[in-house]
Amino acid sequence: MMERLQKVLAKAGIASRRKAEELIIEGKVTVNGQVVSALGTKVDVSKDKIRVEGRPVRQAEERVYLLLNKPAGYVSTLNDPQGRPKVTDLLKGVGQRVFPVGRLDYATEGLLLLSNDGDFAYRLTHPKHGVEKVYLALVSGIPDKNKIQALRRGVQLEDGVTAPAGVRVLARMEGEALLEIRLHEGRNRQVRRMCESIGHPVLKLQRTALGRLTLRGVPLGSYRPLTGQEVRELLEKSRVNSQERKKRG
Ligand code: URA
Repeated sequence: MMERLQKVLAKAGIASRRKAEELIIEGKVTVNGQVVSALGTKVDVSKDKIRVEGRPVRQAEERVYLLLNKPAGYVSTLNDPQGRPKVTDLLKGVGQRVFPVGRLDYATEGLLLLSNDGDFAYRLTHPKHGVEKVYLALVSGIPDKNKIQALRRGVQLEDGVTAPAGVRVLARMEGEALLEIRLHEGRNRQVRRMCESIGHPVLKLQRTALGRLTLRGVPLGSYRPLTGQEVRELLEKSRVNSQERKKRG
């Protein structure tokens, strides 16, 4: 894509648009080895070699934030030793390299964020930050009141007791129950391990929400970009949660 040189410099974080214009007029900018001092010269960042005072200008990669409705049968890691299908195989036409923000198991369906913004990923997956995640779990058998209460209060897992969780029984069926589980933690295989610990293993698992984000309008196997407002809200929420946690000690 052809863009004005001063805009390219500004986007790369070299200087403000006005300062970038000054650098160009002062003859400090070269394109493919030639000084370009005319404002408005158009360049193609994917092909042209741009330097400011001899230093190469690297284009800041555009930030991408996607919400994917992950089907079962995909891994949410980028390298799978077993060579199984990857969630990134589902992203057609996304120019940037994105990576999953957090994980869903191979067999788990539902809401998974992907981004190329490492800071965003760090903040959202940090155990301290805990944006609420909502899961629907179909479990084997029908857990009684005491077991549901145990899930809510916290159960002992290999890696420690789980934090308080929201748990509701949405449906009781023949030999199976549908639970809604709300977590602020995000340990590996946490929902499966919690349900196993009360003797009701998970048969099917779906993540339906993360903070205020839901799967509405995103069919299984499809994705949509987050809006700027959604990204800001998630970052804000993760910051607030970590502050509350600090206050509570
Ligand atoms: N908990 C699980 O057990 N699996 C997931 O994929 C997500 C949460």
